[in-house]
Amino acid sequence: PPVYLVTPTYRRTAQMADLTRLAQTLMLVPGLHWVVVEDAEVRSEAVAELLDRTGLRYTHLAATKPPNFKKKFLGRGVFNRREGLRWLRQHATEGVLYFADDDNTYDVRIFHEIRRTQRVSVFPVGMILQLGISSPVVRNGKVVKFHDGFQAGRKFALDMAGFAVNLRVLHANPQATMPERLTFLEDGFLKQLHLELEDLEPLASGCTEVLVWHTRTQSSPTPLLENLSKEDMDTNLITLY
Ligand code: UGA
Ligand code: MN
Repeated sequence: PPVYLVTPTYRRTAQMADLTRLAQTLMLVPGLHWVVVEDAEVRSEAVAELLDRTGLRYTHLAATKPPNFKKKFLGRGVFNRREGLRWLRQHATEGVLYFADDDNTYDVRIFHEIRRTQRVSVFPVGMILQLGISSPVVRNGKVVKFHDGFQAGRKFALDMAGFAVNLRVLHANPQATMPERLTFLEDGFLKQLHLELEDLEPLASGCTEVLVWHTRTQSSPTPLLENLSKEDMDTNLITLY
């Protein structure tokens, strides 16, 4: 059974750079199914072409917040991740779900680790907040708490990149969805899976290795035609702009 990676993505200057880096990491790993969900009303040509070039097994979707949605404190990638979950519930029977944000950095070993997930697996994530790391705390092979800079009363103080879910658990909890509230997405989602801390399976050698980093790509200006001088209008630059 495949590892299903649900990647929410949105249009910005770094998007193609981030997706290219992620795609070419995924191309090194057999047995993945990449579910890319654009935060948009319709799928874009640029993402479609990128996916096609990879040769990966993939599903290309789009979903965004409703036009009249007014609430403040909406988390990032909520409605598109929900669309990914909807697709999985309808089309995927066996396998493992992992929410793979488009800007993180993944050691290919994390995807091999995740495959072993029986219910919900957990592992450290590098470059998180002021502590520089987020990790389950493991004692005698069991998760006892979380080392994370943002506790805020969370039962599961994890980053989105720090857990994976066997589809059996998703199917057993048909109501479980990505909540809306900014910074509580992970905890809110995991709470709906009816788990206790002792159910969590520590991966990455008992959570002693960092195999995924919460990197963030700096933004860059959009190339604008008005920045191209008249004398260069008849050169290759015109196609780059
Ligand atoms: C952190 C977590 O790592 C995210 O998984 C979580 O969704 C987010 O906080 C949150 O709580 O809202 P961060 O690095 O701050 O993430 O956020 P981004 O990397 O900008 O966004 C997370 C994912 O959602 C990315 O794959 C991004 O492409 C996507 N996204 C972001 C959208 O689809 N739409 C947006 O408007 C913004
Ligand atoms: Mn990010």
